[in-house]
Amino acid sequence: MDKQGDILVTGGAGYIGSLTARELLDAGYGIVVLDNFVKGRRFAVERNRALAADKGRRFALEQGDLGDPSFLGEVFARNKLAAVMHFAAFTEVGESTRRPALYFYNNIINTIHLLEEMASSGVDSIIFSSSAAVYGNPGKVPIPENAPTRPINPYGYTKLAMENMISHYRERSGIEWIALRYFNAAGASADCALGEAHSPESHLIPNAIDMVARGDKVRIFGGDYDTKDGTCLRDYISVMDLARAHRLALEITAPSALNRPYNLGSGNGFTVGEVVRQVGKAMEVEAEPEYAARRPGDPDKLVASSDAFRKAAAWEARDSSIQDILKTAVEWYRKRPDEALEEKPLPALDEHEIAGRIEDELSRNKIIPDGLKADILKRLAEEMRKSGD
Ligand code: UFG
Repeated sequence: MDKQGDILVTGGAGYIGSLTARELLDAGYGIVVLDNFVKGRRFAVERNRALAADKGRRFALEQGDLGDPSFLGEVFARNKLAAVMHFAAFTEVGESTRRPALYFYNNIINTIHLLEEMASSGVDSIIFSSSAAVYGNPGKVPIPENAPTRPINPYGYTKLAMENMISHYRERSGIEWIALRYFNAAGASADCALGEAHSPESHLIPNAIDMVARGDKVRIFGGDYDTKDGTCLRDYISVMDLARAHRLALEITAPSALNRPYNLGSGNGFTVGEVVRQVGKAMEVEAEPEYAARRPGDPDKLVASSDAFRKAAAWEARDSSIQDILKTAVEWYRKRPDEALEEKPLPALDEHEIAGRIEDELSRNKIIPDGLKADILKRLAEEMRKSGD
């Protein structure tokens, strides 16, 4: 990997993007953060800017939208880039079922803009932030990368479509890629200066911490799943282990280890009931659960097999014991800045108008095969029907 250039971190003001930006700065890279702040946070960028100044690394913020090709052209022209890490995407499963067209545009079409710009400016390496959501309801756990990919929500579908598109750009434009499919990202940075700042928040760990801190009962969605205590089993992976995995992925050179997806998880499953108990322990109070109805679309069990990435990158999950994750998550919760709580609702745009733009832009693309374009449009139509649009 040519360390002469900087790393473009799209979505570098987001949760996993900002922590990975920090890891890159620590490891000696210069970075360019690209973010439109629809979901991203200023404090995360400013904290990384201060770290870069401290360490004498190059740091630039490019504020703008991947949907704007002329902005992207300027970003690639005025920065010397060695590679791209692509985090910028909407990531909430529930939101994706209500606003499928917005998710398809922001995730799929904006990735096409990025790939087009990479192809035309000769930046030929991308590490892509993917998700275990590509698997849907897996047959068995732990899940290897060659398990069938049958995403059950629009969010998971967009991540799979993005992986597929990237692989076509590899064939036609020589862009080398690695997709990292994370399981349940959790926790904060070691100094607890960067962490999860979604608002509204849907994830278990920050919600459970918040409810315990307020003296409320922790709401558990469903107690009749096929697991030891009837609550869903998940594989929680520290965001620090994820950040390190991205940096290591950038440094992979063996051709046989490139151009493929990898799972990233700790390999250990915890039920929601167990996590809630552990949150209580981390906060030194008794966490009281309250059972509610199942949340639609939750699979019983999701646990990763990350053997392939362990071999390819000599990576180990080091910070992902549930106790370590919760220690950082609780401390982050207590000291996070007010900005982390500011609401970040989705922009109010017409879903049908966006769907029209998706169709137009796909029809103009010369690299993505017709079969994939048709599949994207078919799935979008289905998801829009389901969402009541
Ligand atoms: N849950 C609760 N109460 C809450 C929040 C969540 O009981 O207040 C439960 C959920 O129903 C689920 C489990 O806790 O059973 C974990 O839920 P999260 O929302 O924290 O995480 P998910 O497993 O649903 O989703 C995560 C990522 C997604 C990714 C998915 C991969 O956040 O981006 O894993 O399957 F798509």
